[in-house]
Amino acid sequence: MLTAYDYPLAKLLDQCGVDIVLVGDSLANVVLGLPNTKYVGMAEMLHHTKAVNRGVEKAMLVGDMPYEAYQKDPREAVNNANKFVKEAGCDAVKIEWFKDCQLVVEKLVAAGISVMGHVGLTPQTAEEYKVQGKKAEDAKNIINQAKQLEVWGCFCIVLECVPDKLAQVITNSLSIPTIGIGASVYCDGQVLVTPDMLGMFDDYRPKFVKQFVDVKALIIQGINQFKNEVASSTYPDDQHSFTMSDEEWDKLSS
Ligand code: KIV
Repeated sequence: MLTAYDYPLAKLLDQCGVDIVLVGDSLANVVLGLPNTKYVGMAEMLHHTKAVNRGVEKAMLVGDMPYEAYQKDPREAVNNANKFVKEAGCDAVKIEWFKDCQLVVEKLVAAGISVMGHVGLTPQTAEEYKVQGKKAEDAKNIINQAKQLEVWGCFCIVLECVPDKLAQVITNSLSIPTIGIGASVYCDGQVLVTPDMLGMFDDYRPKFVKQFVDVKALIIQGINQFKNEVASSTYPDDQHSFTMSDEEWDKLSS
């Protein structure tokens, strides 16, 4: 699974055969330049999810429910999830663990909406971005949360920022798949925020992010080359310009 926030990136992920495209609420940080995911709402998420949907043909499309869609008022959860499915073309929605999780998951599932759960580090309510479940008591809680999400009807669970041994226990205790982010190799699948792994966003980089390519360097190279060629009038050259016939030019200039 990888994240996308617009049409061109979604198209590339789909063409590469990525199984699941997630329109993450990380939109807030990596696209909109906001301080955390709580600042992104339904309007922004739907706008971007619709664009992503236009680029996805084969992959499963999952919309990340923003905080305001289900934590602010859990009674709004089904209504908002339906917007992701019916208006924005999602196959499923993702929600993070929170105190009224059971109510929300059960209502969504009863409404026929596929739900991806999310435990461990849950950025919508976390005070600090740090590894979760390092202490036995906390680890037990996270195991229980994952098990409950399965019982309530989630089809899959994201594990964020948990130690490898905890990820292994959770993955082995569930019959639904786990998808890890900072959760070691002991998950059934992996997810990363795409601008992080492509090297397009580097305001901060958690330890688990591997930068697979340096897109930022390529973008900088392209921008500088454009600037230099414009300044030296080598761009646009004949290959990138249009001409008119001598006959028409004579008519125009006479
Ligand atoms: O918002 C997001 O991109 C996510 C992933 C980190 C799983 O929730």
